[in-house]
Amino acid sequence: MAEKLIIFDTTLRDGEQSPGASMTRDEKIRIAKQLERMRVDVIEAGFAAASQGDFESIQAISSVIKESIVCSLSRANDRDISRAAEALVGAEHKRIHTFIATSALHMEKKLRMSPEQVLEQAKMSVRFARKFTDDVEFSAEDGSRSDIDFLCRVIEVAINEGATTINIPDTVGYGVPEMYGVLLKTLRERVPNSDKAIWSVHCHNDLGMAVANSLAGVMIGGARQVECTINGLGERAGNTALEELVMAVRTRKDYFDFELGIDATLLVPTSKLVSQITGFNVQPNKAVVGANAFAHASGIHQDGILKARDTYEIMRAEDVGWAANKIVLGKLSGRNAFKQRLDELGISLDSEAEVNAAFNRFKELADRKSEIFDEDIMSLVSDEQQSH
Ligand code: KIV
Ligand code: ZN
Repeated sequence: MAEKLIIFDTTLRDGEQSPGASMTRDEKIRIAKQLERMRVDVIEAGFAAASQGDFESIQAISSVIKESIVCSLSRANDRDISRAAEALVGAEHKRIHTFIATSALHMEKKLRMSPEQVLEQAKMSVRFARKFTDDVEFSAEDGSRSDIDFLCRVIEVAINEGATTINIPDTVGYGVPEMYGVLLKTLRERVPNSDKAIWSVHCHNDLGMAVANSLAGVMIGGARQVECTINGLGERAGNTALEELVMAVRTRKDYFDFELGIDATLLVPTSKLVSQITGFNVQPNKAVVGANAFAHASGIHQDGILKARDTYEIMRAEDVGWAANKIVLGKLSGRNAFKQRLDELGISLDSEAEVNAAFNRFKELADRKSEIFDEDIMSLVSDEQQSH
């Protein structure tokens, strides 16, 4: 039996940290419902202490979400944790996610705290959070740049105090896959009570490696929770993209043998919903959910696809929520793709000579126009028929 890989979506919290991506309470509720429909395991609904609006959004999401765990972020202090607990009161399944930075840089320059103070604060905050729920996640912010001996001490204390998930964020996207995977592996080997918690990865995409780092954290490091966002939304260059992570695991099942609860056919509709609400367009060549992810433009590829889709497709457009793949007619298209489009449009020409003539006219037009639409084909065929 394959092990479960927990999908923790933080679109509504870290995703909202994308400058310009802030969402209203009603928009957050719509996204949360869609995430639940897609069977995301954990929805991080916000950061309750950050604002009254965030608090109310978490409260509202807690009252409508029944299947997924609803989570609020909180710094490692009693006030934040109490706010998170209060916002989550109505949730069927709730999690408090508390964090504190553990790198020397953050402790000294940002927190202005000694390592011993951070250790104590981590301990007290997990202990306090456990008063409200059995499901407590602890994150060592800037974990990938932290001293490993200190990290081991903090994590051991957090688990002793009852943290059930331990998250090692690559907060500034500085990790590289092997290093990050080995970091998790080493931590799990060295922390004495490591098997009492589920380990989690949380990667940022500053060097474009968030998905690769997350997968290394799973495969090399033994993490069983991945934190991600729809469309890879998030602070600076964003977070691990949920749709990419999910489809990498699904498509390379031979390699990533995990059970995922996600309904992948909702990936594209969810991506569109988040894009429409935030106003952040998805780049056309974005994996899985970009408009061109299943579009074929070159004649050689189109010919291959028409003969056998596996020639140039490693997954099915329909499986991730597109209506179909796309053969885009343009100057690179070949005769086969053109003929196929005539068939789809219900156009039958009398002879091969007529097909050839129409194809030549199509190629002339395609040299002048970057994309040829069905209307263009219908009009050039009718011109062809009239000339006979
Ligand atoms: O990137 C990060 O370190 C975070 C934590 C607060 C989990 O988002
Ligand atoms: Zn983050």
